[in-house]
Amino acid sequence: MDLHIEIAGVALPNPILAASGTFGYGVELEDIVNLKKLGAVVTKGLSLQPMAGNPSPRLFETSAGMLNSVGLQNIGAAAFVRTRLPRLRQIGARVVTNIFGYTVEDYLEVVAVLNEGEGIAAYELNVSCPNTQRGGMIFGSDPRLLAEVVERVKRTARRPVIVKLTPNVTSIAEMARVAEGAGADALTLVNTFLGMAIDPRTRRPRFANVVAGLSGPAIKPLAVRMVWEAYQAVKIPLIGAGGIATGEDAVEFLLAGARAVQVGTANFWDPKATGNVLKELKRYGARHGVARVGDLTGAMEMSTGDSPASG
Ligand SMILES: Cc1cc2nc3c(=O)[nH]c(=O)nc-3n(C[C@H](O)[C@H](O)[C@H](O)COP(=O)(O)O)c2cc1C
Repeated sequence: MDLHIEIAGVALPNPILAASGTFGYGVELEDIVNLKKLGAVVTKGLSLQPMAGNPSPRLFETSAGMLNSVGLQNIGAAAFVRTRLPRLRQIGARVVTNIFGYTVEDYLEVVAVLNEGEGIAAYELNVSCPNTQRGGMIFGSDPRLLAEVVERVKRTARRPVIVKLTPNVTSIAEMARVAEGAGADALTLVNTFLGMAIDPRTRRPRFANVVAGLSGPAIKPLAVRMVWEAYQAVKIPLIGAGGIATGEDAVEFLLAGARAVQVGTANFWDPKATGNVLKELKRYGARHGVARVGDLTGAMEMSTGDSPASG
């Protein structure tokens, strides 16, 4: 199976990416994962200033999933360009930098810093951060704010802009259309679902922030559904994420309409997860006679096939 794909003009050797926040800046894993062989590495979310993140505990395991409240800890965009990007370039990894901010201006300033970095393939905008300047609104769930941040980032960005949508909205199709209309080159869906957990013994929330982000296998069916809904709503390429841990998980997302996928939480229990998903995807392609991985995108069959009763 030919694994090559293209997203927003960026050629990738295969459709398996490491998801933001679950793979550090990539370089930490260079002894464990062949970064050059991955479709791309998506970095931890970068802000203008370094951020310390939230107090611990930051992770809590749930049934088939994980809640996190890491709080976007990062070294800052300038330090990333200076201290991590050169090594990624040397390795030959394709790098997508994940970006977040609390105001539109924050996003623009981070983009300006990253525009000067050599060896970045694309930007991924994390639009699910609280916007403190406008009463704690969330970019990704307010169509007007989403359009504004995407339009303005597009004007500043020297690289393709992938918009990463939050699943915490009523209509993912609407938000996908808004991002596309504002100029997004591609979409990643989805980020984590808002969740919470309480310790029954102490009656206290598990996290200082009370709510946290749910990821892992528990969210996979929700994420596949959202990719499918977005696929019917927009024409730009989609990158699926949410609970992918096996090659067949990846295939499900591709069939629903994704052109590429990201492996996130699975890296926490197996740092080699991205490589395993790629291997299993190749095996699926060989077994099912798929010529090009791109042929799987949106190729879900709508008929249910032979019913057990007819056999
Ligand atoms: C610990 C942790 C940190 C994350 N940090 C970020 C981040 O900085 N920016 C971002 O856009 N998404 C972040 N995410 C979301 C993941 O990239 C991914 O979209 C989500 O977890 C769903 O995929 P998964 O179920 O495979 O983990 C984070 C997820 C986890 C678990």
